[in-house]
Amino acid sequence: MQKILDLISEEMKQAFEAAGYDPELGKATLSNRPDLCEYQCNGAMAGAKKYRKAPLAIAQEVAENLQNSETFSQVDAVAPGFLNMKVKESFVRDYLRDMSGADKFGFQTPESKKIIIDYGGPNVAKPLHVGHLRSGIIGESIKRICRYAGHDVIGDIHLGDWGLQMGLIITELHKRQPDLIYFDDSYEGEYPKEAPFTISELEEIYPTASAKSKEDDSYKADAMDATYKLQSGVRGYRALWDHIIAVSVADLKKNYANLNVEFDLWKGESDVHDIIPGMVEEMKKGGYAYESDGALVVDVKEETDTKEVPPCMILKSDGASLYNTTDLATIMDRMENFHPDRLIYLTDKRQDLYFEQVFRCARKTKLVNEDTELVHIGFGTMNGKDGKPFKTREGGVMRLENLIREINEEMIRKIRDNAQTKGYEIDVEQARETAKIVGLAAIKYGDLSNQASKDYIFDLDRFTSFEGDTGPYILYTIVRIKSILAKFEEQGGKLTDIVIQEAVNDPEKSLMLELTKYNAMMEMVCEEIAPHKICAYIYDLANVFNRFYHETKILTETDNDRKAGWIALLKLTKEILETCIELLGFSAPDRM
Ligand code: ARG
Repeated sequence: MQKILDLISEEMKQAFEAAGYDPELGKATLSNRPDLCEYQCNGAMAGAKKYRKAPLAIAQEVAENLQNSETFSQVDAVAPGFLNMKVKESFVRDYLRDMSGADKFGFQTPESKKIIIDYGGPNVAKPLHVGHLRSGIIGESIKRICRYAGHDVIGDIHLGDWGLQMGLIITELHKRQPDLIYFDDSYEGEYPKEAPFTISELEEIYPTASAKSKEDDSYKADAMDATYKLQSGVRGYRALWDHIIAVSVADLKKNYANLNVEFDLWKGESDVHDIIPGMVEEMKKGGYAYESDGALVVDVKEETDTKEVPPCMILKSDGASLYNTTDLATIMDRMENFHPDRLIYLTDKRQDLYFEQVFRCARKTKLVNEDTELVHIGFGTMNGKDGKPFKTREGGVMRLENLIREINEEMIRKIRDNAQTKGYEIDVEQARETAKIVGLAAIKYGDLSNQASKDYIFDLDRFTSFEGDTGPYILYTIVRIKSILAKFEEQGGKLTDIVIQEAVNDPEKSLMLELTKYNAMMEMVCEEIAPHKICAYIYDLANVFNRFYHETKILTETDNDRKAGWIALLKLTKEILETCIELLGFSAPDRM
């Protein structure tokens, strides 16, 4: 479907042309004076110079041509030369009827592309903490948005499963349990199926080992040696590594499932280990990689750089590969196996320069095609109320599970308070279930409503509030509509034979006009990969809906057509809100 602003602009363009002016002057925009009009056009101001005529005179001629328009109920030429328009109720009604019947409410999807989204990026054996929250939440939403836009999308978690942390864990295990069969070089039999540790032990082992390695050089040397042995395929080490991965991944799956985050691929840095030597060889042969202080590097600086962009290091002087190396090899692997048109990465924005280097290196060494799009979305930090990175009350790193627990507890409290004020009973189990759904919305909306690159403050009380720009407020609005629709059906109404009517009051028209913006909003969201614009839209939509709701007695309306028209409007509002929250990665309960 055409966007409503395009339809309006077209009508304006014809009017400019009919008056003898350049039709391009007819571009319309939303009004920035909603008290005066709904749309406006500033073309007469722009045309004044070209036609050597007073802008007001031009505006008046154009307005004259629109007096009998099917689209406008009012077109005013006002000093010094603005055109202020209001659209007819019938025009809006017809537009919304078309939207209700159209696929994706008339949102026209762009040309379909193959996209890989690299998000989540947790490191195996390290506890999942709030730092990984943003990557998971934003990445999941972007994946859903891209899919909705008709692209062929693969989400890959890209586990950090190959670095020094693995060697550290193995070293610590060795110190604690030197008799483990995995450390017996002469052992040739099969290794046990059961891991010699649990996830809680694993999560304790890593920080312990990491702390020791910082204080003790020989411990660190052991860990590096263990990493080397693992990477060169020593059997016992590989078997231990398999256990670490299995135990960690099971835990990660549980955590991400709680967040409604789902990956298509569970690949990791380790998956490209075998293709690194070949890639490095090619980079040398192509004359791109050269030795510098013993290390192998590729220059990636460009003439237009205003800041220093250091070379991309491919191998360290001891021949070991780095984070860079696995990322480049992963790009090569993805290109060969999936032929993506676009690769999107989500990490903390502190990795901005890193990805700039990797992308330049990938282009220079021809790992990607000339038109492959490489996109890094660097997000800001989630801060506490003190403006510093979010911590537990004790000052430690907050584990994701605990954060979710805190939110859910607060949500249960608010849900029960709300039930009490409204005077209905809610049992504990039901409150708990609802709190899980609403709590997730609170976290995700709290995050996604900020532009990704910005830092934001995690505010438990605000995020879980039923009022204001929050997830629970949006859900509350949806639940309210659901309940009206259910009552309408209880009264014998049918949701299948209702149709949107002309607006009869201002709040209703505002709601209708807000709904007409859907496809333009969605187009922008997809173009800019900007989930926060969905949040801004549904917040506005929920606000205009609630204003309409408070001023209209819907279910007691005696004019049946009018009532059915309102119900149709509510149904469309609900469907749009539900589509939007689905794209943000959460859902609404039936009651709250
Ligand atoms: N594991 C990394 C970290 O915790 C994030 C991985 C991001 N993805 C990538 N392809 N580099 O910093």
